Amino acid sequence: MDTKEISAMIERRLASIDMPARPAGLYEPVRYALEGGGKRLRPLLCVQACRACGGSAEDAMEAAMALEMFHNFTLVHDDIMDHSATRRGRASVAAKYGENQAILSGDAMLTLASRLISRVPAGVVPAVMAEFNEMALRVYEGQQLDTEFETRKNVTVGEYFEMISLKTGALLASACRIGALIGGADEATADALYDYGMELGLAFQLRDDWLDTFGDAATFGKPIGGDIINEKETWMLITARHDSHGDLDAILDEDLEPEEKISQVTRLYDRLRVGERCDAAAAEHHALALAALGRAQLADPALREFFEETVDRMASRKL
Ligand code: IPE
Ligand code: IPE
Ligand code: MG
Ligand code: MG
Ligand code: MG
Repeated sequence: MDTKEISAMIERRLASIDMPARPAGLYEPVRYALEGGGKRLRPLLCVQACRACGGSAEDAMEAAMALEMFHNFTLVHDDIMDHSATRRGRASVAAKYGENQAILSGDAMLTLASRLISRVPAGVVPAVMAEFNEMALRVYEGQQLDTEFETRKNVTVGEYFEMISLKTGALLASACRIGALIGGADEATADALYDYGMELGLAFQLRDDWLDTFGDAATFGKPIGGDIINEKETWMLITARHDSHGDLDAILDEDLEPEEKISQVTRLYDRLRVGERCDAAAAEHHALALAALGRAQLADPALREFFEETVDRMASRKL
């Protein structure tokens, strides 16, 4: 099976996840969130890690669904927290259905994800569920730090990396480890794939932050400048604060219209070449992802190419 076939299989299975029909106000937003497109990166990593370690795509399918369901749950709640009205080029769940429904449908998605993860092959249920639960807590910890950082002006690059390793790295890393566990990997290989997913995740969030300022809204599917408006402590913001000797905070302290704030901060980024430098920081983590991959003993070495290509694809992603 090639990557395209796996992706098609993931898409089919997502469309047929069983859930109640009523009340429609609870489950319609769940379907809306899931059918909105998206790269399906986490389920793909899980399935390919499983196959690379000796299992089949089918073996990993329930876990893959659980991970994509969980990811979409975090996006539904994230869009409430970040006041984001647009997701994947259309109204966010909160914008379309209101915040109360977004909270409750998100809760339902978390529970649907728990139900799916408990259906992995019997022998690995305890290990996979433990991994899943630890991962979920890390994501919430990261989201909490992300929110706390909005009102701080002394966040360090080290704190930034801790925060993104939790909110984003943990899920990509666990997607790989869960796939590896289901496939029957030895511990060293499961750890190596976890590290691969973590480094990929750090680079992925650096790129997401870059796209939030320098991307194209139509392709990226999210409006440009949201992180600047929210004063998110991104690598770029922290670096610009450090290098601009007060100019960044002077802009943020002014009471500017949103468009003006975005344009002034973006001009400062351009002056300091912060965008290019952020790209270079992401490239370092891509290299670390490949180094971790090198430590994995894959039962099917042909799958190594998939993990390498994924790094390349994510490095230049525009959506
Ligand atoms: C968005 O994740 C949240 C981040 C971790 C930046 P993705 O960019 O993977 O979102 P979709 O699922 O492809 O829309
Ligand atoms: C994503 O952070 C992290 C999670 C959703 C857990 P962002 O807030 O940057 O994600 P987007 O940009 O809204 O997709
Ligand atoms: Mg967020
Ligand atoms: Mg957000
Ligand atoms: Mg973002």
